[in-house]
Amino acid sequence: MGRSIAIVSGKGGVGKTSICANLGIALAQRGVNVCLVDADIAMANLSLLLGMQSSPITLHDVLLGEAGIQDAIYDGPNGLKFIPSGLSLENYRRVDADRLATVIKTIQSKFDFVLLDGPAGIEKSVLATIASTEECLLIATPDSPSIADVLKTKIVAQRLGNKPLGVVLNMVRFEKGEIGKEEVSRMMELPVYATIPYDDEMRHSFQRDKAVPVMLRNLQAKSSIEVQKLAARLAGLPVQFDEKKSSGGILSSILHFFASLFGGNKNNGKGMEEMKV
Ligand SMILES: Nc1ncnc2c1ncn2[C@@H]1O[C@H](COP(=O)(O)OP(=O)(O)O)[C@@H](O)[C@H]1O
Ligand SMILES: [Mg+2]
Repeated sequence: MGRSIAIVSGKGGVGKTSICANLGIALAQRGVNVCLVDADIAMANLSLLLGMQSSPITLHDVLLGEAGIQDAIYDGPNGLKFIPSGLSLENYRRVDADRLATVIKTIQSKFDFVLLDGPAGIEKSVLATIASTEECLLIATPDSPSIADVLKTKIVAQRLGNKPLGVVLNMVRFEKGEIGKEEVSRMMELPVYATIPYDDEMRHSFQRDKAVPVMLRNLQAKSSIEVQKLAARLAGLPVQFDEKKSSGGILSSILHFFASLFGGNKNNGKGMEEMKV
């Protein structure tokens, strides 16, 4: 039985869809069998980001009881699978969000991970997203309104029997005035599971003529590196990144130089660095 994880927040626009898409790609790149579900049944954006907007059968059809879930699973990038929402507002009004739990249970056995891109707020479709999964990642930006709202989401998740894994702090600028990692952890009584920096490379994903997630464009972008660490932590895998291409900083370059001089480079010239998160 695979793991089902809801990607949720209190506030909208904090990066749920971006993180869900890029995390899914990062997991798939590591050979993990993953299915992404666009559970934001009113404001579907995940298809847009994955460049898959013309799916004939969607989650709407499944939740309306008009199609089977197998017919709504599509091939996404890097071997990941994807269940799109639907774009029709009329169908959105008619769908029975409570059916989502049965749908997720049906597919959970076929994947290592089923990740649900959730809606914002605390409406019925959010509750259905949380209730249909066993775990959740709480996405927030490092400011008071975002943290205050995601705290409510955490409480709701726990009441619904869902296990919040931790907070993913997104769009972090490492500036004075931001709420720090330790404080977030203390307020939320949860670990900060990942810290993803504010990154124009990530922001541009939605802005191009054709949307392309940063994980498919630039593996060395600072946001991509943190998403890869998040994926590794989630799946219990060692972090891997290509140290030749990544900017590990001057200290890392000097250490690497001395390590190679004295034969201490255990990578055997493979160029891949592994570290336990
Ligand atoms: N780490 C980041 N750095 C810069 N921009 C980001 C980052 N994460 C998300 N964004 C941008 O923020 C906007 C909202 O992101 P989105 O994933 O749609 O949020 P949500 O799904 O929570 O509404 C998008 O324009 C996206 O490109
Ligand atoms: Mg979204």
